[in-house]
Amino acid sequence: MTSNLLALLLSVIAIILPLRYGCSDIIGGHCVRAHSRPFMAAIRRMNITVCGGVLVGRQWVLTAAHCNYRLEESDTRVVLGAHQASKAEKEQQRFKIMRFFSHPQYNRSSKENDIMLLKLDRMANLNKYVQLFPLPDTGEDIKPGTKCSVTGWGRTSSGKLSKCLREATVEIVDRKVCERKYNKKQKPVNITRNMLCAGGKMRFSKRDACQGDSGGPLICGRKFSGIVSFGEKCGIGDRPGVYTRLTEKYINWIKKTVSRNGEA
Ligand SMILES: *[C@@H]1O[C@H](CO)[C@@H](O)[C@H](O)[C@H]1NC(C)=O
Ligand SMILES: *[C@@H]1O[C@H](CO)[C@@H](O)[C@H](O)[C@H]1NC(C)=O
Repeated sequence: MTSNLLALLLSVIAIILPLRYGCSDIIGGHCVRAHSRPFMAAIRRMNITVCGGVLVGRQWVLTAAHCNYRLEESDTRVVLGAHQASKAEKEQQRFKIMRFFSHPQYNRSSKENDIMLLKLDRMANLNKYVQLFPLPDTGEDIKPGTKCSVTGWGRTSSGKLSKCLREATVEIVDRKVCERKYNKKQKPVNITRNMLCAGGKMRFSKRDACQGDSGGPLICGRKFSGIVSFGEKCGIGDRPGVYTRLTEKYINWIKKTVSRNGEA
């Protein structure tokens, strides 16, 4: 009887495992329905997604300033309309970067103002697979405990880059609590009001953004609220991920930069 049960259990596991494998865990998330996030941009180099971004104008992608590393290299591409960014999907549109605008006060060491705009080499064709994501009207703060989602092609808990676009639910963490966790480090980081912390520590599944997710969106209640900025060890330890908050100041900087440097 016991061995029959065991055999049954094993066969159930055998059926379940291959289905979940490679598509179960961003960290603790799941693959989204293909092309259900048509505003997502993949910044790719050497056939690797190095950062994510969001299409905010027909020729403009918003991402994190720390994604500016080797951006001018000739093999860098921005891919729109992707689900499996490493494949040549028919819905994809690929662009070179014409210019990039890091926030003028971006500070690599304090990580303040980690925000950047990319101007693509031509206008994107907007369709079912490629769409703009509106900026929020106001830069209101997001309360601790609010559930948000983070989307990207970054590393999963297996340590590999995700094949599909993934999303995880994370919860906003109080800045003081978050800062205390970062201040245990030798090089403390101040969590300012221009940043948001979010994480998820479920009992069995941690949730976070990871390498390759940088520059991707934090969406709270359908509103574009933040940009993946930094974190540590992706879901390991108890430090939440840190996001650049889309404050009124940043929204104005985006609008100004876009209008001074070509149409949206
Ligand atoms: C990138 O992928 C394409 C198609 O799969 C391949 O032809 C090309 O050699 C790859 N480039 C690099 C740098 O790996
Ligand atoms: C950048 O941040 C560091 C650490 O907070 C600070 O010491 C430095 O003065 C800042 N640099 C600028 C140019 O503001």
